[in-house]
Amino acid sequence: MLAKKIVSVLENFRKDSSASIDLKILEEIRIKYLGRNGLVTNLFEELKSVSKEEKPALGKSLNSLRDQITSKITELKQNLTSLLEKEKSHIDLSLPGRHKQLGSNHLLTQTLNEIKSIFRSLGFSSIEGPELESDYYNFEALNFPKDHPARDMQDTFFISKDFLLRTHTTPVQVRIMEKHQPPVRAIMPGRVYRNEAVSSRSYCMFHQVDGIYVDTDVTFAELKGTLVAFAKQFYMEDLKYRFRPSFFPFTEPSAEMDITCYLCHGKGCKVCKYSGWLEILGCGMVDPNVFKMVGYDPEKYSGYAFGMGIERTAMLKYGITDIRIFFDNDFRFLKQF
Ligand code: DAH
Repeated sequence: MLAKKIVSVLENFRKDSSASIDLKILEEIRIKYLGRNGLVTNLFEELKSVSKEEKPALGKSLNSLRDQITSKITELKQNLTSLLEKEKSHIDLSLPGRHKQLGSNHLLTQTLNEIKSIFRSLGFSSIEGPELESDYYNFEALNFPKDHPARDMQDTFFISKDFLLRTHTTPVQVRIMEKHQPPVRAIMPGRVYRNEAVSSRSYCMFHQVDGIYVDTDVTFAELKGTLVAFAKQFYMEDLKYRFRPSFFPFTEPSAEMDITCYLCHGKGCKVCKYSGWLEILGCGMVDPNVFKMVGYDPEKYSGYAFGMGIERTAMLKYGITDIRIFFDNDFRFLKQF
């Protein structure tokens, strides 16, 4: 009886294990034959009740049955596992490629790059200075009187009594002149800070680019020529412009430059507040007091300087009406440029 059962269990096992199986089914097969209630285990139970004479031979074949099944299951398990490993490392070359999302330069970077390249073609190098600046460079060396309102806590982020976040990039002019003798011709881009209420027109942090040219016999006519050449390249070739008298402590005389509103071509619209004109920058001839501060002889040298906001410049060029949008990093805005 038991001998027959051994043969049939082995046959069944062969059938079970030859079908197409995965690791889960293999485990079910193992339980079916070798588990606590498994077919082989039960046969060992039955062995207990066979006669003494038959026991050794039947015991032997039962052991061999168990060993065969065990080793077959181990072998199948190894095969299946290595197959799985192979599948994992398989690369399907027919799959479509993954689309790479490429970013682009921020509009402010693009605008600054354009400004830089125009001034580079006019002979200006580009130099940067520190954002954390001393009161001396930001105000004093630039001829700001002690009681000038810009020196108030309300307009400037003071870090300590003598240090502040620079309110303009003009202090870099002083740093350059301290280091180099004329001729000096450079632009100075960078980040600046002002303690202002945030609105669509002003932000607590923005960017400026200043410029300076010092040599013997530099005239206001050259200042105009340079800035008009810049504006024509940057805004439009056929623009009209005007220089209005203005005041800055570090230039004398000082002026502001306006161009015809590119949107309405001077007819008057919302952007130019119906004046037909847009103010694009401040400028002037370097004040002799500034030359004295850096050790230049004002009798021998003259120079011009100018400064503009990069956000403002981009806003004018692209018709952007809210400065905050530059810092929101909203894809819908960034993607347009
Ligand atoms: N620093 C000035 C400002 O922040 C802008 C400026 C005006 C810079 C005239 C200059 C200049 O270099 O000559 O409003």
